[in-house]
Amino acid sequence: MHVLLTGATGHIGSTILVSLLTQHPHITHITTITRRPFTPPSLPPPPPPTTHTSHTPPTHTNIVLDTFTSWPPHILSQIAHADAMIWAMGNSTPDPEVNFNYPRVFIESFLPLLAPKPNNKKFQFMYLSGALASPSQTAPLYFMPAARRVKGRFETFALEFAARNDGVWSSWVLRPGGVYKEGSWMEWTYLHMTFK
Ligand SMILES: NC(=O)c1ccc[n+]([C@@H]2O[C@H](COP(=O)([O-])OP(=O)(O)OC[C@H]3O[C@@H](n4cnc5c(N)ncnc54)[C@H](OP(=O)(O)O)[C@@H]3O)[C@@H](O)[C@H]2O)c1
Repeated sequence: MHVLLTGATGHIGSTILVSLLTQHPHITHITTITRRPFTPPSLPPPPPPTTHTSHTPPTHTNIVLDTFTSWPPHILSQIAHADAMIWAMGNSTPDPEVNFNYPRVFIESFLPLLAPKPNNKKFQFMYLSGALASPSQTAPLYFMPAARRVKGRFETFALEFAARNDGVWSSWVLRPGGVYKEGSWMEWTYLHMTFK
């Protein structure tokens, strides 16, 4: 299975990349797509081989894309046979460019490459949204309204896109809450305040 990943330089995306590289035997190749060159995170030592765990680690390539507003043919040709995309790029601002247009342009550019696959396998598009995203564009929101609406607007777009292209495309919306780094103030708050 060939998996695409955006946001691999970020907090969540870099952890996803380590997981893809180490924990999923059915993944054969990972292509990260970033706006700048980066060094992949160092990997934990592999577990001792057993009959259940021994597998060939996936290969990894990175593509640097100057702008996510267009996917040139020479880039698309490198990823045309991918099976899935994990879209972990974004931020918690209302910026419609990074939080709506960039993933929209990707799915509209990638769709024409897809032909129906054996066993009706569909392209799997996984969008990392946020726990507070609001698909409703009119419901009153008192906390970060514009940022929550732009993520909700893209969720709706991605799900409707899958419904329109049902034979070849599946969209998944993932809504994490707070994701903290080990040793960060968020971890301290979670460990010391949540359960007391
Ligand atoms: N962290 C959380 O607690 C949390 C919780 C729920 C949802 N989320 C959502 O999950 C997504 C990732 O969060 P994160 O914490 O991993 O964020 P992050 O550490 O700030 O990483 C953001 C990623 O998006 C890329 N990016 C941002 N703006 C870009 C642009 N204009 N063009 C190209 N790439 C761009 C960054 O690339 P560069 O490295 O090049 O800047 C980076 O790879 C966001 O949409 C966020 O809202 C996060």
